[in-house]
Amino acid sequence: MEKKNLRPYSFSIGNHKIVRGDCSIVLKKIPKQHADVIITSPPYNLGIVYNSYKDNKKEQDYLNWLVNICSEMKRVLKDEGSLFLNIAGSSSYPWLPFELMVRLRKHFFLQNHIEWIKSITVNEQSYGHFKPVVSDRYVHRNHEYLFHLTKTGDVKINRLRVGVPYKDKTNIKRRAHNLDLRCRGDVWFIPYKTVRKKSEKFNHPGTFPQLLPEMCLKLHGVQNPLVIDPFMGTGTTLVATHCYGGKGIGIEVDPHYVKIATERLRSLAL
Ligand SMILES: C[S@@+](CC[C@H](N)C(=O)[O-])C[C@H]1O[C@@H](n2cnc3c(N)ncnc32)[C@H](O)[C@@H]1O
Repeated sequence: MEKKNLRPYSFSIGNHKIVRGDCSIVLKKIPKQHADVIITSPPYNLGIVYNSYKDNKKEQDYLNWLVNICSEMKRVLKDEGSLFLNIAGSSSYPWLPFELMVRLRKHFFLQNHIEWIKSITVNEQSYGHFKPVVSDRYVHRNHEYLFHLTKTGDVKINRLRVGVPYKDKTNIKRRAHNLDLRCRGDVWFIPYKTVRKKSEKFNHPGTFPQLLPEMCLKLHGVQNPLVIDPFMGTGTTLVATHCYGGKGIGIEVDPHYVKIATERLRSLAL
């Protein structure tokens, strides 16, 4: 929740802009059709302990709140833009992401539904970090959702920018593009880096790896995009945008996380 008597403020770092404020208000001040891409991970309403935001709204309040913010995202998104929305449920609270998507149906096309896999076992070999669930009912949760939402459902994307090399190289000649790349598909394995301390994840409980927004930017495919993250957190989307050559606008309600995002961007020697 937004702290009382904390006025919104904004500042630039290189090509990027950071706004300390409530995105439900700040987004309204952004012109329509402004952004090429929005990449964001809102709070999941799972009682996660943030520095100040309280992640425990009543379910209907949460859904109404987030749907209203998503409709503002639609307004600021170009007609040929992409919204990548990362969200997850929990074992005991699994419906929420689906409830959200059903409500977003009147605003967006669900152009791609990507599964973000954080850890996986292939045959007997495990990759990534497993977050154990102690339970005799539930299996470990190793995935989150990455919904690719667009206004028309037919936004052109660049699948091969995130493609993978063919196993059978004879495929290269058979394809018109003549590249050793095929579409990766809708299951993306993106593990977290191994960290020893919470400070290496910026003492924030819900960051995503930089590779996730980087892959979204490549998949959308536009050069030098204008990218917005309305729930900026520690600024991962802005860091990825910078590395990709785009301009970012990040909105975050908590000044502590704004400071972290600012330091991350400044450390890129802007
Ligand atoms: C899941 S985290 C995003 C983490 C980010 N992807 C990263 O890698 O650091 C959600 C963030 O939204 C912020 N937040 C919550 N309500 C907000 C609001 N109304 N406006 C802007 N930010 C908000 C929280 O403080 C939290 O940092």
